[in-house]
Amino acid sequence: MQIPTQRIKDLPGVDRRREEMKLPGLEDLNNKQAETQLTLFDIFDLSPPEYISATYPVTMLKKKSLVKNGNRQGLLQIQSRRYLGNKFKLLDFIREIVEKRCKECRSFCDIFAGTGVVGNEFNHSDVRIISNESLYSNYVSLRAWLSPEQFDRAKIVEYIHTLNNIYPVKENYVSQYFGGLYFTVENARKIGAIREKIEELTLSFKEECILLTSLLYAIDKVANTCGHYDAFRRTLDTTTPIRLLVPGIRQDENKQNEIHHEDANRLIRKIKMDVLYIDPPYNSRHYCDSYHLLENIIAWKKPETFGVAKKMLRSDLKSQYCLKEAPKAFDDLISNADCRYILVSYNNMAGKGNHRSNARIKDEEIIRILSKRGKTEIFETEFKSFTTGKSKIEGHTERVFFCEVLKGKI
Ligand SMILES: C[S@@+](CC[C@H](N)C(=O)[O-])C[C@H]1O[C@@H](n2cnc3c(N)ncnc32)[C@H](O)[C@@H]1O
Repeated sequence: MQIPTQRIKDLPGVDRRREEMKLPGLEDLNNKQAETQLTLFDIFDLSPPEYISATYPVTMLKKKSLVKNGNRQGLLQIQSRRYLGNKFKLLDFIREIVEKRCKECRSFCDIFAGTGVVGNEFNHSDVRIISNESLYSNYVSLRAWLSPEQFDRAKIVEYIHTLNNIYPVKENYVSQYFGGLYFTVENARKIGAIREKIEELTLSFKEECILLTSLLYAIDKVANTCGHYDAFRRTLDTTTPIRLLVPGIRQDENKQNEIHHEDANRLIRKIKMDVLYIDPPYNSRHYCDSYHLLENIIAWKKPETFGVAKKMLRSDLKSQYCLKEAPKAFDDLISNADCRYILVSYNNMAGKGNHRSNARIKDEEIIRILSKRGKTEIFETEFKSFTTGKSKIEGHTERVFFCEVLKGKI
């Protein structure tokens, strides 16, 4: 793949994994382990993860420190937002697998793109990034960061300055519904007034997407939540005034890209790519529930809202990957993929978190479905998990199921 190579490293194998266990302070335990042939699972009286399968050896990759994309001259960065399940901290892990296993690739599809950080990681003028998302608010943001349409940078800088200098006194949709709950009344008024103003400006769609993205990221910074909008915090302690930043868009890299706003299973039938990256929702928590507020403000249809959390009706935004039929949807997606390599991110919390955090598709099902298309293996790295409840999961690992496609569409 035509991508910068400064972070290419050899994949550590099983021997390296043993090396990693020799942590300071654990030497005694390691000696004990060597003497008695116990494993660390035995010593700490833990059950080994259930997903490890004898027929599918797991390659453990070392966790790396992540220092990248330093904040360029105060510009907004694609990863500068809170989003459940975002893979920013796993980019090195994903990149390592791609560089090791995917040969001569010119296109990469991020079909459940969310924030878009994974596609962005492989974004290069010689590579076509296909980025797709079912939520409109995410699609708008993906269009801003990754789509090829040109835009007037000076105009964006000027408009963001104008929007930051709006000081409304009148109430509006955002202040009426969300003021004093998700935001201070002042911030809510300003968000509503800025959103209204963006409607009035003369903009291309790309420019509108850039201003809306700037607003979306700014909202995230002042929202009185713990990173999603299933609830607001009881004490309104996020009082910093909202401020929009100019997104640092790498437009030169975007020449070949395509951005879609479609159901993944429908889109897969129309596209062809070298690498398909799949990162669906894992459990029964719908993203439209967690991000209803951003969806509402970006779509700007001003619907009625309901309940304590002030959510709008969103039955048309529900994902089949959060329902019982998730395995069937996944099978359909894989069967219809026209690609050379498939990477699937899926977490391992089945049976460990609270009920709603449990994974919808079993590991065996993922392996069985991928194996119909080609050679399948699992890569794994340590990861601190995030559940929306209070449950803390120890020993959580993040996996990527990798398939080298050998058989055509089924
Ligand atoms: C786990 S998140 C992806 C996170 C992303 N990789 C990132 O790093 O930000 C899954 C995403 O899939 C989207 N989604 C859910 N069902 C979908 C579907 N049927 N088609 C397309 N996108 C879908 C959700 O809105 C959510 O943003």
